[in-house]
Amino acid sequence: MKTLIKNATVVLPTGCSQTSVLLDEGRIADIDAAPQVSADETVDATGLHLIPGVIDDQVHFREPGLTHKEDFRHATRACAKGGVTTFFEMPNTQPNTITLEALDDKLRLAAEKCLVNFAFYIGATPENIDALKAARRTPGIKIFIGSSTGNLLVDEQEALERIFAETSLPICAHCEDEATVRANTERFAGSQDVADHSHIRDHGAALIATRRAIDLAKRHRHRFHVLHVSTAAELEPIADHGNLITAEVCPHHLFFNVDDYQRLGSRIQMNPSIKTRQDNHALWQALLDGTIQVVATDHAPHTLQEKAQPYPQSPSGLPAVENSLALLLNQVHLGKCSIEQVVHWMCDAPARVWDLVNKGRIAVGYDADVVLVDLNKSARVLDDEQETKAKWSPWHGTTLTGWPVRTWVHGTTVFRDGQIDERVRGKEAIFDHQRGGYWETNA
Ligand code: DOR
Repeated sequence: MKTLIKNATVVLPTGCSQTSVLLDEGRIADIDAAPQVSADETVDATGLHLIPGVIDDQVHFREPGLTHKEDFRHATRACAKGGVTTFFEMPNTQPNTITLEALDDKLRLAAEKCLVNFAFYIGATPENIDALKAARRTPGIKIFIGSSTGNLLVDEQEALERIFAETSLPICAHCEDEATVRANTERFAGSQDVADHSHIRDHGAALIATRRAIDLAKRHRHRFHVLHVSTAAELEPIADHGNLITAEVCPHHLFFNVDDYQRLGSRIQMNPSIKTRQDNHALWQALLDGTIQVVATDHAPHTLQEKAQPYPQSPSGLPAVENSLALLLNQVHLGKCSIEQVVHWMCDAPARVWDLVNKGRIAVGYDADVVLVDLNKSARVLDDEQETKAKWSPWHGTTLTGWPVRTWVHGTTVFRDGQIDERVRGKEAIFDHQRGGYWETNA
């Protein structure tokens, strides 16, 4: 299938350009193709922007084991609609993805069911170092330095030292200090106020664990990615480590703060917890100045019934994958950033950070994972219209301007004008771990 996309403003690595892009056999075959080039389909994209597909490096899609909350079909329908063409999924499924067999099983299941491209982290435990050393078909190792949903946790110093010393894959971590969270949990025992979630998983918990992980990464010279940074205080230890340490922020930590508990209750109960308006501001500045490189969602659905239980029975997590691109494009609309910056944070940066092969850019030879976006389209996020199996969004009722209107995966249209083609299948994402993680300097 040969597709010629004409008249779009194309977001290239060098900036925006009014040009054409030819997709052929799953690849970007040509840019600025000759006008007379023949194609099976010619798309007139006048007024639209063409961007690389979004790469979301942190999602929880719940399959296998927790499919009453989410599953590959619903989650990847949501991806297609949201302009996400590749996702990296976390290991706290049932069974946990902590063995090579569990990783292979997930990859097999995903190849059968996923409408977009996929990859899966291998989760660390205090005992599975051999699996962590042997794993290859993965972006890297996920450590829960503090526990969250599920039972994965490595907080013993000796076990952490071994993982950083003996493994070679990049490591990422959920950084909330277990001892602090446990002590605060006792202090707030009996509280049914969900706002206390941010007192239990407080600023100190995030800072202690992030510092601890960065200390490990520096001493062992081990590539490390800080997941979901939630506080201004974490920015100082994160900054200025060159290629060694990278970081990401999620839309809920950029756009929600503790003042929103009253309106949204447990819908915004997350780990790490949401913090203050000052943190929102500092995190946004950190994206703009490059201290944080990546925007990812931490899409973590639970049913509304589960969420409706009184705190602390209500589980932490919220769905976001189908609205993350629109949330950031809305910032372009508001004049807070450029579309090139959004592409950098959501497409190019995650590909560079994880050494993902042939993705994240519109360049000849790269995979034809591309998205047409309409920067002028306004629409309200509505629970009823969500594709996630959980069928709700914390942004319910919010009007956003700037939406994906068509998504291609390996050159095949998977989403167009509200319709999702369920026959499309994504492919396993490929990583070049020999590169050893690179960032800007050699991008
Ligand atoms: O709030 C969260 N929920 N944070 C996590 O890190 C995990 C996630 C989940 O899996 O529900």
